[in-house]
Amino acid sequence: MDGTTQAREADPVSTPFDDGELYDVLFGEFRFDLDFYLELARKARGPVLEVACGTGRILIPCVRAGVDIDGLDLFPAMLGTLRRKAAALGFAPTLHRSDMRSFAVPRRYALVFCAFNGFVHCLTTEDQLQALRTWRGHLAPGGAVVFNVFYPGREFLSGPEGEPVLEGETRHPVTGLPVRIYDTRTFDRVAQVQHSCVEIQELDDQGRVATAHRSETDMRWTFKPEMELLLAASGFARWEICGDFDRRPLTRDNDQMIVFAWNDPPPAAASPR
Ligand SMILES: C[S@@+](CC[C@H](N)C(=O)[O-])C[C@H]1O[C@@H](n2cnc3c(N)ncnc32)[C@H](O)[C@@H]1O
Repeated sequence: MDGTTQAREADPVSTPFDDGELYDVLFGEFRFDLDFYLELARKARGPVLEVACGTGRILIPCVRAGVDIDGLDLFPAMLGTLRRKAAALGFAPTLHRSDMRSFAVPRRYALVFCAFNGFVHCLTTEDQLQALRTWRGHLAPGGAVVFNVFYPGREFLSGPEGEPVLEGETRHPVTGLPVRIYDTRTFDRVAQVQHSCVEIQELDDQGRVATAHRSETDMRWTFKPEMELLLAASGFARWEICGDFDRRPLTRDNDQMIVFAWNDPPPAAASPR
């Protein structure tokens, strides 16, 4: 030994989806979109697939409501947490560990949905098209694909870069101590990709950082006309793009982008008497 620090193999970079329990501490109680997806799932005229279902924030309430719903996600930790929570309630939904861009599962669905920005993890146009074509290919006749992503408005695009921003604070459900999430963002405005270095801090009872969990993730943003091109290029017959969960049109650049897309032409108008 010569006294210098031994070079270490770099640890693989964690993603925010490598720890489903920690994800749930921050996001498990989010309800802003739950009624919207739950109602769609309840009204679906056949089985439902949730793509990028995560820890079951939406899927589990659907199962409890009696919806015939399957889930799909790439990250084992997210699916593991979902399975554990569902089992505690006496349910064992069918879950597929697969990439949202290129899966093939046996059922065809009346509704395929992807909540809470799942689609932004398709980082290139080719990824986006592959995902949309795959989702479309799993629709039963008359079925719909529905998903929501954030809209890349002025506030988002001119947001702070390279400095940590406190995104949220909650209490740990077990210890009752504060948990904070910081995001340090950088933007590739040509590729339309945001890179996030995430730090989740668990504080002790003196307000000091007891544990810091670091992870990284990328998100691709998409504008509305671009989304319409993607839907057309992936073969949908028609679509509707809304600005909020009440289905009002997308008109403001701080709106949500909520996409409904169908394989089939609109139902025929009732014939005149
Ligand atoms: C923001 S979370 C949303 C999770 C869940 N839908 C919810 O609303 O809480 C994004 C999800 O996308 C999943 N994900 C990311 N890339 C994926 C991929 N290529 N294929 C499938 N799932 C993916 C992550 O594991 C994570 O569960």
